[in-house]
Amino acid sequence: MIRSRTGAAGIAALLVAGLVTASAGHPAAAASVVYEAEDATIVNGVVESNHAGFTGRGFVNSDNAVGAAVEWTVSPTAAGNKSLVFRYANGTTTSRPATITINGSTVTTLQFPGTGSWTNWMIQTVSAPLNAGANTVRATATTANGLANLDSLTD
Ligand code: GCU
Ligand code: CA
Repeated sequence: MIRSRTGAAGIAALLVAGLVTASAGHPAAAASVVYEAEDATIVNGVVESNHAGFTGRGFVNSDNAVGAAVEWTVSPTAAGNKSLVFRYANGTTTSRPATITINGSTVTTLQFPGTGSWTNWMIQTVSAPLNAGANTVRATATTANGLANLDSLTD
């Protein structure tokens, strides 16, 4: 006769019998955080809000110059590869490349192609290893056009 069992003893009996399998949970994915450009360290640029569609209080309009930069402090709880998502607008038809460095080491040169208008915001993503705790993530303009307008970085 099959009896219905309830409670821990019953579940344990089913596990032993192989009728129910238990599996360990997966670690929860770390929450992503939005780091606004206007809260970052700005090298040769200003915070503006004259082009709609930004998040937070505005965006960074860098000078049109090589070396203009925005540097964020990104602080994941665990070390590992993270997607760094840059939200930007470029109302020109010329890409505005930026060297991306993490803790001073160059990761890549990321292109920020035209987005059609200064109010049309798009993203560019790079995957890079971060330490647990504070990391500096810096985008530095490589051309005389400076950076695209930068809204935020999300990890
Ligand atoms: C325009 C635009 C700015 C932008 C600048 C540029 O002036 O209003 O937001 O940063 O062009 O070309 O860099
Ligand atoms: Ca600019």
